[in-house]
Amino acid sequence: MRGLCAAKTQQLLRLIHSVSPVPAARWRAATSRLLSSSSSPEEDATGSLMLRHLTSKIKATGPVSVAEYMREALTNPVMGYYVKKNMLGTDGDFITSPEISQIFGELLGVWVVSEWMAAGRPKQLQLVELGPGKGSLASDVLRVFTQLQSVLSGASVSLHLVEVSPLLSRLQAQTLVGTGSTEAEREDEPVYRHGRTAAGLPVSWYRRLEDVPPGFSIFLAHEFFDALPIHKFQRTERGWREVMVDVDVDKPGQLRFVLAPSPTLASTTLVQRDENREHVEVCAEGGVIIQQLARRVAEHGGAALIADYGHDGAKTDTFRGFKGHRLHDVLASPGCADLTADVDFAYVRRVAGMGVACLGPVTQRSFLKNMGIDARMQVLLRNCGDQSTRQQLIGAYEALTDGAKMGDRFLFFGLLHPRRLAAPQTAAGLKLDKKSPAQLPVAGFTEIHFS
Ligand SMILES: C[S@@+](CC[C@H](N)C(=O)[O-])C[C@H]1O[C@@H](n2cnc3c(N)ncnc32)[C@H](O)[C@@H]1O
Repeated sequence: MRGLCAAKTQQLLRLIHSVSPVPAARWRAATSRLLSSSSSPEEDATGSLMLRHLTSKIKATGPVSVAEYMREALTNPVMGYYVKKNMLGTDGDFITSPEISQIFGELLGVWVVSEWMAAGRPKQLQLVELGPGKGSLASDVLRVFTQLQSVLSGASVSLHLVEVSPLLSRLQAQTLVGTGSTEAEREDEPVYRHGRTAAGLPVSWYRRLEDVPPGFSIFLAHEFFDALPIHKFQRTERGWREVMVDVDVDKPGQLRFVLAPSPTLASTTLVQRDENREHVEVCAEGGVIIQQLARRVAEHGGAALIADYGHDGAKTDTFRGFKGHRLHDVLASPGCADLTADVDFAYVRRVAGMGVACLGPVTQRSFLKNMGIDARMQVLLRNCGDQSTRQQLIGAYEALTDGAKMGDRFLFFGLLHPRRLAAPQTAAGLKLDKKSPAQLPVAGFTEIHFS
């Protein structure tokens, strides 16, 4: 963290230091998930129903792309994993950073406020979260907003959640607005649920980003893009071929990967001409959402902060499944396990286009350190009396920042309005060009890429 940006972030951090450690229930829930891995009878039934559904689809129309398989397994409106399952509960399949510690959401909250300030404190601030899980991240960010009321005074703040899962939207509503949320009467309403937080802030739920109203917005997407369907391609002697999912004729009731015998529309349009890897994954659906974010940021102002496990265009086969905290065969019991793939940030940067500035990716460890996680930890530890909460805080800090845990695996990436680069900090003497990336005055980031 450097110069004016560091000073501004530290000032904001000081204002939230009166918030004490949040009760440890979340962390206990998260750690107890490590112990659960068996499937329930209900899950087994969903798994076999989904398998039957996919098998008859493949028998009727031929092998499906990995993207189609993933879309069905995760978001089929009746049997999809995200639609049916609370994967983040005590019987869940994985832990995410906002569930591990309040500090994560608090630092992102500080980032949101500092970006709003850097944009000239616009009258309207829409906080938009994509894939909010249990609502913990949004809840921690809103607590920061309350602490920073004096800074935000005069701004009309609203929260907008893009969530495909009705089950998770109910959990988010419980966390954020208690029992006071109302469901839309008609299924095709763009806002399918709405409510108000205890502080009176309006909260709206949407299935798709395009339904969120235009306006100055800060977008957060934590472990959202890795859940979107990917296409997989393999280089062969005859050119690129798409990896498809077929029924396994030798093993009844099982699925297998096959290569499409000839080019598919996806393999001819999604693989770059100069691609030098042997195997490539492309998340076209994620690409469309990135383009929407970039367009919104360019047209209406604001920023997007994307945090996910990912790489900068070098990895090949990252498609994997998680169940009960263990790696799980991606083709076994579809609909009962999480399916995920690393986010390719080189692709994200490419599709974001010329209208926005791209920041990062930087590691989670670097981002959180730049945002002042060490100072925040010291204050929380000082304010915390009992030994077990101290141990939990330290364990959570290590999980978030240790390179071998989440610190290096997760990356942070930002999209900013280009005007942001001409902010007062630049006039104050910080030179922004490709050759001096270390002087970038954006909290959390240490490097910049120009599209
Ligand atoms: C891996 S969870 C991450 C949850 C949360 N961000 C966290 O870090 O704890 C993915 C989230 O994205 C939502 N989701 C998945 N696919 C989606 C889609 N196509 N549209 C909207 N939400 C989606 C899931 O329901 C879930 O809330």
